[in-house]
Amino acid sequence: MNMVNGEKGSELLQAQAHIWNHIFNFINSMCLKCAIQLGIPDTIHQYGQPMTLDALVSALQIPPSRAHGVDRLMHILVHSGFFEKKKHTPDGRDAYMLNRVSELLLKDNPSSVAPFALAMLDPILVDPWHRLSAWFHDRVNPTPFEMVQGMSHWRYAENEPRLNRFFNEGMASDARMVGSMVVNQCRGVFDGIRSLVDVGGGTGTMANAIASAFPNTECTNFDLPHVVADLELSKNVKCVAGDMFEAIPPGDAILLKWILHDWSDEDAVKILKRCSEAITKGKGEKKKVIIIDMVVESRDGDKQMNETQLFFDMLMMTLVSGRERNETEWAKLFVDAGFGEYKITPILGLRSLIEVYPSS
Ligand SMILES: C[S@@+](CC[C@H](N)C(=O)[O-])C[C@H]1O[C@@H](n2cnc3c(N)ncnc32)[C@H](O)[C@@H]1O
Repeated sequence: MNMVNGEKGSELLQAQAHIWNHIFNFINSMCLKCAIQLGIPDTIHQYGQPMTLDALVSALQIPPSRAHGVDRLMHILVHSGFFEKKKHTPDGRDAYMLNRVSELLLKDNPSSVAPFALAMLDPILVDPWHRLSAWFHDRVNPTPFEMVQGMSHWRYAENEPRLNRFFNEGMASDARMVGSMVVNQCRGVFDGIRSLVDVGGGTGTMANAIASAFPNTECTNFDLPHVVADLELSKNVKCVAGDMFEAIPPGDAILLKWILHDWSDEDAVKILKRCSEAITKGKGEKKKVIIIDMVVESRDGDKQMNETQLFFDMLMMTLVSGRERNETEWAKLFVDAGFGEYKITPILGLRSLIEVYPSS
């Protein structure tokens, strides 16, 4: 394969550049993490006007000898769409501003994605990626996470308070955004529901949001004991500790947000069967399971959306024994668990709200 001259040579270099780009893709993630940890979005926000490099370095209290580092960090963050750079000052120096993306990283933004980013980029959740190839030849461990930690993600969270805390905070930050969208844009979904149980509801953010938007709906937040220990929830939200594979408290509706993608098909069917038993015991007339999860589909031309779906699927394989599913795969789970009709509302960006009804 003599490909060093002419056309072939340029193809070779293009292929090399493609590989280099992928080798160093993690630098994007780490620069994002660094910006959040340094507090760059909040610092620019608090400044209240476009911020020059000097002002940023001084507000971050970074020694002048490292100012060149902040300059280079901001360079890549502007390139990857996190900040805007404008010639703003009278002397024509560059100044940095927030954009829609960095606004989503502000601490005080109720929809902040920062806790989720810090959780997903913590070494506990990143280390298993180094064992991915070994895991393909391993016959013992269900996930690369278990190869590294010797136990499942959920068991490890029970034993390691730091993981329990940062994971729950990451989930709660997502639930704040999704909770406010769902109660504002999908009000009809909750019509006639007298009681609702958020299964695997974490620290109760969704249950709180639903209970305050629908005061006539009795809400329960249900999760493992170490997650719900010492929770302070709204006064009309009940908190129940338990294992969803054993029994789920009764309710007209069961909410499963970001639950089923954590599990294999076999386990997902078991969970759905427990949900079916729980809604049978609900006292109201309208009964359903409400799922918030991804429905994988090819989004024409949207390379970033497609790639993010693939990332999530690999994430579910690496950390837990789950997967992302397309509509056919979802439909099969519902049939296998004995449910009837379902309705998918693609309202949450990459995720959808799926209502699943008992078979009549
Ligand atoms: C990906 S998190 C989703 C949390 C929350 N629903 C959200 O989206 O913000 C999965 C949740 O399932 C809970 N979980 C895992 N195994 C469980 C079990 N056997 N019974 C009850 N909850 C469980 C975890 O503790 C965690 O809070």
